Amino acid sequence: MSILIDKINELKKKRNAVILAHNYQRGDVQDVADFAGDSLGLSQQAAKTKADIIVFCGVHFMAETASILCPDKLVLLPDEHAGCPMANMITLRELKIKKKEHPHAKVVCYVNSTAAIKAESDICCTSSNAAKIVSSIPKDQEILFIPDKSLGGYISSKLNRPMILWEGFCPTHHRILAEHIIKLKREYPDAKVVVHPECTPDVIALADHVASTTGIAKYCNDTNTKEFIIGTETGILHRLKKENPQKTFYAITHLADCSNMKLISLEKVLWSLEDLVYQIKVPDDIAVKARVAIQKMLDLS
Ligand code: 13P
Ligand code: SF4
Repeated sequence: MSILIDKINELKKKRNAVILAHNYQRGDVQDVADFAGDSLGLSQQAAKTKADIIVFCGVHFMAETASILCPDKLVLLPDEHAGCPMANMITLRELKIKKKEHPHAKVVCYVNSTAAIKAESDICCTSSNAAKIVSSIPKDQEILFIPDKSLGGYISSKLNRPMILWEGFCPTHHRILAEHIIKLKREYPDAKVVVHPECTPDVIALADHVASTTGIAKYCNDTNTKEFIIGTETGILHRLKKENPQKTFYAITHLADCSNMKLISLEKVLWSLEDLVYQIKVPDDIAVKARVAIQKMLDLS
């Protein structure tokens, strides 16, 4: 294992590459990364890196976002099949039809979407800044929130702001059930329940705190409780345990495993650096339009 890590670090230096990893990646992949974080943190890191190559350990839309922000850099996704099912729940054709039905609506697009969908949107958001982004739009302005109905619904009720919601969702987070929490709370009554806003409303209703993956890590670091019940993709437990060895973390369910995120392994990170695969490049005409929506979000964050 350490030979593999040594080889990755050696090649990374030689190629002037940076490794970015999402909080849901395998623990060993997070550990080899220069930066591990949530979607917003990762795009901010991509935007400011001085490296020539970005190895993106995450899913396709994340590498696309990095490529849009850094058109002159080589962006590599170590497994070309690492996609996001939620991002595929909306097509350009469907979005155009919906926009025609609501010609005055501003389109707020969760970053878990393809570059083509971002290009058709007014502004992007992530789970960590969605409330801020929606609040930046005048109250009387109609909003079409795509593609995650769970994040959209959570923000809508938090801000008491009606929005038109797309019917997309994250299959991984929807496997987390309220009954799982009720059972765990009986066993660990002092534990705080922390969940991601991609969860269903009945799960969110049982939570002490709702946040993005980095927000979850921050809450667990800063809160004086010893036990936490975690409602998000299980990859985050690696970081939580590492940063808080004296605290105990219970996954609400081990079914909350995103098989796409887990396609990336240390071996694939090495092959990616060796063979410069798989290169993610967004066509210029789409990238120019998508960049406007992403940049508006970064400027507000
Ligand atoms: P964040 O890390 O931005 O909370 O995103 C969660 C997610 O599902 C990414 O695919
Ligand atoms: Fe997509 Fe959900 Fe996996 Fe994130 S956890 S990549 S939203 S399927």
